[in-house]
Amino acid sequence: MRLHKSAPKLRSRYVFAGAVAFVWILAGQLPVRGIAQGDITYYQHVKPILDRNCVACHRPGEAAPFALTTYEDVVRRAEFIQWVTESRYMPPWMADPSFRVFANQRLLTQGQIDTIAAWVHGGQKKGKPVPATQRVAAETWPEPDLTLSMKPFTLPGDGSEQFRIFIIPTQLQEERYLRGIDFQPGNLRAAHHARLMVDTSQLLRPDDGVVAGDPNTEFTRLNVRLADYFLHGWVPGNFPVFYPEGIGKRLPAGADLVLNMHYSPTTRPEQDQSRIRLYFAPEKPRRLVKTFILDENWVVNQPFVIPADTVIRFTMRSPLIPTDISLLSIMPHMHLLGRSFKAWAVTPQGEVLLLIKIDDWNFNWQMTYQFEHPLKLPKGAVIFAEAVYDNTSRNPRNPFHPPQTATYGWGTTNEMMNLIFEYLDYEPGDEALQMPGYAR
Ligand code: HEC
Repeated sequence: MRLHKSAPKLRSRYVFAGAVAFVWILAGQLPVRGIAQGDITYYQHVKPILDRNCVACHRPGEAAPFALTTYEDVVRRAEFIQWVTESRYMPPWMADPSFRVFANQRLLTQGQIDTIAAWVHGGQKKGKPVPATQRVAAETWPEPDLTLSMKPFTLPGDGSEQFRIFIIPTQLQEERYLRGIDFQPGNLRAAHHARLMVDTSQLLRPDDGVVAGDPNTEFTRLNVRLADYFLHGWVPGNFPVFYPEGIGKRLPAGADLVLNMHYSPTTRPEQDQSRIRLYFAPEKPRRLVKTFILDENWVVNQPFVIPADTVIRFTMRSPLIPTDISLLSIMPHMHLLGRSFKAWAVTPQGEVLLLIKIDDWNFNWQMTYQFEHPLKLPKGAVIFAEAVYDNTSRNPRNPFHPPQTATYGWGTTNEMMNLIFEYLDYEPGDEALQMPGYAR
């Protein structure tokens, strides 16, 4: 009730603020660090913002369709850049920052958005190049210790989507520990997302290149228990993941990486040879990163079926967390019918910990969200999640017209409700540890 009453007042405040900003723009006196609009230049003001927040994707060989590394690149699209930043379409970030802020968050401040707008209106001046020593470094990653490639794969180009499994032996004689991991797609036009798992049975090797979910694969037939069901997840824009010092992931001796690749449909044959880049810790880390996954089995309002022409909400409830743990990252996973996702935890003392909220689910941007500091979940806590699926024709991503009933499955036209966590056994002081976010 109170929310409803105060809403109109809030809105009028925004209108007022907007009007003030407009007058400032007209006067050419935008309140950007006290600089007049006409003095804002590409090199001094705009480039540092783009280098920090855009160039990791907008450079040759990365996910975005064009580079934003030179003045010419940027000035050609100046109004467009203003529009995508003001609408907060770019940089892509799906999680609501008022619910929780993450270490790998890539969001512009209002001041940065205003600076770009002021530069666009103020004549898009170039300015003088800043000496290299004073430049904001664009995001780059260190060299890995070991790079592994899948075997080359040719997509048929018949407009079908491809869900494939590749088995990549590491040939490691002894167990190693990862301080970081990176996935490099070999073909950005086709690669949609990837998930890496670890097998030590070596029984899955005949599966290299098979269709995921095929009942005749060793993967399905033998039902081997994998050593790790989630070593790493990749979507466009998910950069290398690094862990704080003394913390890492175990890679057993003789491990085979199991790569589950999802390719978007292509209309002509395409090649892919994706690579995995591993960063080894110099010694065994004191603490190991573990994973747990809440899947459809934890949905309270079973069955997990999304009837055609309905909008339906599922609620998930975890079992009691058995010991104190520290969450490092969270990654919700749904397919095309997903519309929104929210997760929180309740401690035995009744304290509510907000985990993540995504109001406008986007299948294309399924990121691993790294907490700013390891988040303590005490023994006895319960995790709740709520996901809404829209299986009507109003959902523009609905793969079927007319809509068809969807059930659980690995294909994109099936649905999923997963919540994947990386965590550590809790230690006092974890709350103060800073998670690295992306290597910067
Ligand atoms: C995580 C990767 C990533 C980051 C960071 C990123 N972009 Fe993008 N951008 C993309 C991809 C991929 C596309 C193409 C797909 C799309 O439009 O959604 C794109 C598209 C665009 C487009 C074209 C939009 C359209 O509708 O065609 C513009 C303009 C743009 N980005 C500007 C920016 C700016 C400015 C920044 C930084 C403030 C930025 N991007 C940060 C990945 C990124």
